[in-house]
Amino acid sequence: MKETIVYAYVVADLLHAGHVLALENAKKLAGPDSKLIVGVLTDEATMEKKPRPIISFSERMELIKALRCVDCVVAQDTYSPLKNVLKIKPNVLMESDSHSEEDLRETRKVADSIGCKVQIMPYFPEQSSTNIKERVVRFWKPKNGEIVQPRSSSLDFWKKRAEKYNKLAWVNESSYLEAFVSSADFNKSDIVLDVGTGTGVIAHAIAPLVREVVGLDISQDMLENSNWEGNKYFIRKDIREPFFGEKSFDKVTARMVFHHITEKTQEAMNECYRVLKSGGKIILSEGIPPIPELKEDYSRIFKLKEDRLTFLEKDLVDLMEFAGFKKIKIKVYIMKDFSIKNWLENSGLPEEAQREIFDMHINGSDLFKRAYNMKIVGGDCLIDVKNLILIGEK
Ligand SMILES: C[S@@+](CC[C@H](N)C(=O)[O-])C[C@H]1O[C@@H](n2cnc3c(N)ncnc32)[C@H](O)[C@@H]1O
Repeated sequence: MKETIVYAYVVADLLHAGHVLALENAKKLAGPDSKLIVGVLTDEATMEKKPRPIISFSERMELIKALRCVDCVVAQDTYSPLKNVLKIKPNVLMESDSHSEEDLRETRKVADSIGCKVQIMPYFPEQSSTNIKERVVRFWKPKNGEIVQPRSSSLDFWKKRAEKYNKLAWVNESSYLEAFVSSADFNKSDIVLDVGTGTGVIAHAIAPLVREVVGLDISQDMLENSNWEGNKYFIRKDIREPFFGEKSFDKVTARMVFHHITEKTQEAMNECYRVLKSGGKIILSEGIPPIPELKEDYSRIFKLKEDRLTFLEKDLVDLMEFAGFKKIKIKVYIMKDFSIKNWLENSGLPEEAQREIFDMHINGSDLFKRAYNMKIVGGDCLIDVKNLILIGEK
């Protein structure tokens, strides 16, 4: 029986299971009397369309030669396989379905002219070398980044809060989650960084809508109360410490995080900007006083709870604009009938501080009561809380 010559070509920069599968299939497809010749693209050929390979050409040749299904390896010194096809005159040319029909038109014409069949093989997007490289970039740590040591007092604070955090009514309130998530315009190809992910509530809500979510948090205790699986990953890091490569993410989310970053706040926002791709978006949400006149009261109450910043709308816009964000959109989300009791009971605060904060609410001024639409119901104090959702573009 006449031997069938099959020609396939690869860059094989970071050899993975997708290459092995494709080449084994190529060999099988041509039958037992086939010879599989594989062209390995030289660095120059690769660079006609892609960045320079990381692994040297000679090593890539060695790797492909070592595969059981490969009979012969040759250099391919153009991105297009046609020069080698005309020289080798194979019976079958393997092409990937990642190429468009338009790209393949010329290939088919030349192949036809020498009686060579063009066989399209499925592309394995999950295992592409480009995909692997993107992951490496995302998890690559720049050496010269300035490291900010988290204050142990702040880590103790989150340790106390972690256990009860998921019982806070606002954390899981579906309409707030919906308002936040829908502001982001997520799509299935997005890679998202959820900054200050805590117990992963936002990451969890986003995960089904995107390709991958990386949750980042300073507190191991908060992360341990999260439910990580599927396309979610988590990492214990301080956002002020540069860690990911530049332009690694399509979106950055940060719900109720920035008021906790009391030092180097701008650096944290700049880092969110740095890791976003051009055209990428940040979606953040923060609570603010219901009216600017109540900023002092708001700060006084929260001072008893934690070390934090009080933002007004303008402060948040400035923080974003200073980092470089443009086209900033602001949505107001009013959380109706927010239970002060639920909030304090699950805050991790000593009872005395809880009582003091509760009393500060019910003894507030008329302006305070009016602005918060305060109601006393069955021993609880209910208020309308003003949260902003801000969206900015890189
Ligand atoms: C109120 S929780 C919000 C958690 C989550 N985003 C959510 O909406 O449920 C704030 C989180 O920010 C984290 N955090 C505070 N400062 C941080 C920093 N500098 N870098 C990363 N995470 C930080 C805390 O550990 C905490 O888990």
